[in-house]
Amino acid sequence: MNSPDEANDRAPGGAAAADPEAEQSADAAGPMVELRKVRKSFGDNVVLDDVDLEIARGSAVVIAGPSGSGKSTMLRCINGLESIDSGELRFEGRPIDYSGKALSRLRAEIGMVFQQFNLFPHMTVRDNIVLGPLKGKGVPREEATRRARQLLERVGIPEKENEFPADLSGGQQQRVAIARALAMEPKLMLFDEPTSALDPEMIREVLDVMRDLARGGMTMVVVTHEMGFAQEACDQIVFIDDGEIVEQGRPADFFHAAKSTRAREFVDKIIHH
Ligand SMILES: Nc1ncnc2c1ncn2[C@@H]1O[C@H](COP(=O)(O)OP(=O)(O)O)[C@@H](O)[C@H]1O
Ligand SMILES: [Mg+2]
Repeated sequence: MNSPDEANDRAPGGAAAADPEAEQSADAAGPMVELRKVRKSFGDNVVLDDVDLEIARGSAVVIAGPSGSGKSTMLRCINGLESIDSGELRFEGRPIDYSGKALSRLRAEIGMVFQQFNLFPHMTVRDNIVLGPLKGKGVPREEATRRARQLLERVGIPEKENEFPADLSGGQQQRVAIARALAMEPKLMLFDEPTSALDPEMIREVLDVMRDLARGGMTMVVVTHEMGFAQEACDQIVFIDDGEIVEQGRPADFFHAAKSTRAREFVDKIIHH
């Protein structure tokens, strides 16, 4: 968490001092993300039904649950891609501000990795990674390139710098997508089924990168069915069904001693499928 990079990132907080809500955001002890009675519907379909959740700084939290239970919607609300109907949603103590400028600042602070990697096919791996820092943060090209190389090193594919996404395996492309998100130096990383589109032999290499990230103290929310990863790398598992958080706790407790029938059935299905 307290890498020099990050400290620098936060230091030009002259801006924060001028911010009327700086007092709240300076509350470094509070959770990174906080949902209170969050409701979200699409028409008559209640997708998030009074969701209460806290994501502590530095924690890695897995969101699990059946298809259609509201997992992606929850992530999309957290990074402001969807607005909530009622309740409270705070990032670093501040309610999400949906005005254009605040929203782009929020998105720069939250990295997102999807099932589909969404890399730009006409750009090299390196150019995919430097694009955000270059255009979005005004980082000089030389510095952005240096960082991109470090990140490719970190995700284990430094030799792919000059290749195009189509020349990479799915697992390699997803690692580039992770590097691209990290290049923005986010405070929070959201992963939405990052390994669901991968061939089985490539899942491990992506999960290993995510595990290292979690161990390095990155705050992460991960929607996944990879329960081995949850147990090995995550602090908490949140089980959501039909828009409601049915159960949450430490992964080991969830797997071996889930209290609710729905959670036990889910675990059985996942483990024995
Ligand atoms: N943009 C949307 N418009 C209408 N319905 C949506 C939209 N996004 C999601 N939904 C519905 O919300 C429910 C939850 O979807 P989602 O959050 O994607 O679930 P999950 O990620 O757990 O599979 C589903 O019934 C889905 O059809
Ligand atoms: Mg989903």
